[in-house]
Amino acid sequence: MTKEIVLSGIRATARLHFGNFLGAVRNFVDFQSQGYQGLYFIADLHTLTTLKDPEELRRNLIEITKDYLAAGLDPNKSIIYAQSSVPEISELSLLLSMLQPMNELEGIATLKDLVRNSKEKVNLGMLTYPVLMAADILGPQATLVPVGEDQEPNVELARELARRFNNRFGQTFVVPEMMKDMVMVPGLDGRKMSKSDSDNTIDINYTRDEISKRYHARGVTDTQRLRVSDPGDPYNRCRSVYPVHEIVTPFEREKRTIANLCLGGNIGCRTCKGILVDSIAAVLEPFQAARADLASKDAMVREILHEGGIRARAIIRPTLEAVQDKMGVVVY
Ligand code: TRP
Ligand code: SF4
Repeated sequence: MTKEIVLSGIRATARLHFGNFLGAVRNFVDFQSQGYQGLYFIADLHTLTTLKDPEELRRNLIEITKDYLAAGLDPNKSIIYAQSSVPEISELSLLLSMLQPMNELEGIATLKDLVRNSKEKVNLGMLTYPVLMAADILGPQATLVPVGEDQEPNVELARELARRFNNRFGQTFVVPEMMKDMVMVPGLDGRKMSKSDSDNTIDINYTRDEISKRYHARGVTDTQRLRVSDPGDPYNRCRSVYPVHEIVTPFEREKRTIANLCLGGNIGCRTCKGILVDSIAAVLEPFQAARADLASKDAMVREILHEGGIRARAIIRPTLEAVQDKMGVVVY
């Protein structure tokens, strides 16, 4: 069996929310404890496609790194770095762009989303976003890329670029697999929790009280239930509460009990939300304590990013050199 190299990135648009935390970062920590080589980076260059405030970008990079660390990523086991610390990625992206047909980029769904959500003109960085992402992935020869469903077109493009390069120039890149069974965490309105829509989001810094207020005020449950004794449908109609029980409430038995109480009209949504809030707090409180410890440790975080950048460069440089060599680029 080949050794898995797991790689994933996150844009530095804002702090992590509970959806990223459960859906992504907790998985990274699992991979780490299974002994896979993991590369987890902050895609700060990708962030520049939409974020215009330099100070905010600098801040977010440090804060997200702290979130990674507090969630349990260990810089001695995983490589944690900023995309911009590794200039080889940008160079590889330029070389890969020579093999990328333009019309395929214009048709890609993630670009269409960006265009739709952006008030400004589409910049060239948005168009080449997936090529830079391919360089992120292919540079370290990642075998497994855990990302949300929405990233599938980008990962597919990276796979296609790898195959195209290998066909033209000989075996060079591993064709990475996308890991699809990442959990999708619904927000308060039942749609996917997203960073940009704060009404729908649970912030990982919320206290138990704030989490409780938000679920009680906004959490969408089975709207066909008018009184406690009405049987509910946790699986299909409860949009924001039961699906999160499935993810955070410990023990299969407890989940089945909650579902059965709901199906039988034997539990009120208020009580049910209260149990959920307890389960969420049990996950978040240890994280928040670790995060508070890091609050005054910016210097240490910068050092971790610096070291991570050096380690990532050492892994990516041989790939870049092979690509230069095959394409006829000689560095004098
Ligand atoms: N585009 C990804 C997102 O918005 C972030 C990202 C950039 C990424 N480069 C990556 C994810 C490489 C995985 C691998 O979520
Ligand atoms: Fe959802 Fe719980 Fe209400 Fe059932 S009782 S609809 S699972 S919140």
